Amino acid sequence: MADYDFDVLVIGAGPGGYVAAIRAAQLGLKTACAESRATLGGTCLNVGCIPSKAMLHASELYEEAASGKLAKLGIKATVELDLDTMHGQRKEAVKGLTGGIEYLFKKNKIEWLKGLASFTSADTVEVSGKSYRAKNIIIATGSSVTPLPGVAVDNAGGVVVDSTGALEIAKVPGHMVVIGGGVIGLELGSVWKRLGAKVTVVEYLDQILPGMDGEVRKESNKIFKKQGLELKLSTKVTGVSVEGAKATLTVEPAAGGAAETIEADAVLVSIGRKPNTDGLGLDKAGISVNARGQIEIDHDFGTSVPGIWAIGDVVPGPMLAHKAEDEGIAVAENIAGLTGIVNHDVIPSVVYTMPEIAGVGLTEEQAKEKGAIKVGKFPMLANSRAKTNHEPEGFVKVIADAETDKVLGVWMIASVAGTMIAQAAQAMEFGATSEDIAYTCHAHPTHAEATKEAAMAVRGKPIHI
Ligand code: FAD
Ligand code: NAI
Repeated sequence: MADYDFDVLVIGAGPGGYVAAIRAAQLGLKTACAESRATLGGTCLNVGCIPSKAMLHASELYEEAASGKLAKLGIKATVELDLDTMHGQRKEAVKGLTGGIEYLFKKNKIEWLKGLASFTSADTVEVSGKSYRAKNIIIATGSSVTPLPGVAVDNAGGVVVDSTGALEIAKVPGHMVVIGGGVIGLELGSVWKRLGAKVTVVEYLDQILPGMDGEVRKESNKIFKKQGLELKLSTKVTGVSVEGAKATLTVEPAAGGAAETIEADAVLVSIGRKPNTDGLGLDKAGISVNARGQIEIDHDFGTSVPGIWAIGDVVPGPMLAHKAEDEGIAVAENIAGLTGIVNHDVIPSVVYTMPEIAGVGLTEEQAKEKGAIKVGKFPMLANSRAKTNHEPEGFVKVIADAETDKVLGVWMIASVAGTMIAQAAQAMEFGATSEDIAYTCHAHPTHAEATKEAAMAVRGKPIHI
């Protein structure tokens, strides 16, 4: 250790980096974490998962009250939107959680190196003019918004915004156009729809939510349409011009054809995210990136250079906070000489709309390509708790290997699918068969019983349909 300032130096304090730093420190390693933001927690805590969920939660409650859903339950109220207070509670949530990470850094004696980190060699990093040598360096620099050529994002201007700007819009737009029908577009589009905006989603592909199970994508499409989101599929945006507080988008069919214009008060650009490696000095460390700009790693999260590791959004795989966190724990354990493993076949994904949309493992399409399967489905309409709570939309689908009955994937649309999917992930992690789930006693009345009944449907008939 003599020549080294740290055993572990982590670059980036998002869910990947801060978790890696805490685990490394817990394992007795002298640890530092470089972060250029004013607060810890990365994209997720500052401008991603947490503030978006704060707005999703509040806007959902507003919509329930304003639309008369609560009145139908016997709760009558005069409803008024106080957007400033709604933004205030979002900021409070972020402040509390980012401050919590700072507390955990202090508790675990992790040194926060404030500023942008850049490699000067394979074991040395410069932060704010100071050089630090570390035995192990973990790159956890995350990702940022993919720009759309010809479309200038101006979050301060509040008209053409990315996800960060869309969280902070000060006045409900009359018409919001969302470019990209992925997770961000649907979550943040839902927020502003619920608060009163007309929302149009322009999606390049012929279906929303790429990467999810086909049936789930189709059903989600129906549900969002019913909620009043206008979905313009197979359409590309070719330009956006802004004049004062108004934007004009030019769109045309993805396959080519006549162009048309759409007027909007706000435009959200949400066409994906790209890994952050600019200015990191990767060349000085001897590391290159792949065609998608990601840092390639081996099974243990090691890069092509010994002693340099990488995790989270900057490496291949889904760009999800829980994936980054699990990789953070595993890489720290590997550095400490333990065996840190992440099962990348079992990473759940959730879209936090209402209802929520979730899945883990293979889609039905992927599973069919691999061999014979059996599929069991159960509608939420037939689940007693969902029905009682007036949440009839959605279903649970369990996909199992036709021969071994091993669960290959579980997909669902349900009000609490984000919570329900954890059971499916755990079952798959334990190598469960559909029979295992079908014969596990589930508490009644819970939404989770729909998962049990979908598993029963794989093998024959569920009880309640
Ligand atoms: P990040 O969280 O991006 O953190 C990287 C950190 O590194 C940043 O703070 C950055 O400032 C810092 N950094 C970068 N370069 C340097 C450098 N050279 N020197 C010093 N510091 C540097 N995922 C979910 O699982 N669930 C959700 O509900 C969810 N919601 C989201 C909502 C939105 C609007 C967005 C944008 C994303 C959401 N995500 C969600 C994705 C999630 O935020 C990311 O997958 C996750 O943050 C990735 O973690 P990370 O540690 O790899 O990187
Ligand atoms: P995304 O990849 O989910 O969706 C982008 C969408 O934009 C795709 O449907 C794509 O076909 C479309 N698109 C691309 N170019 C286009 C164009 N020119 N015109 C019209 N449509 C176009 O990306 P998104 O929504 O920006 O999210 C980025 C990442 O953040 C995701 O990978 C996701 O993992 C993560 N995230 C996760 C959340 C969660 O877990 N709940 C919430 C928000 C973000």
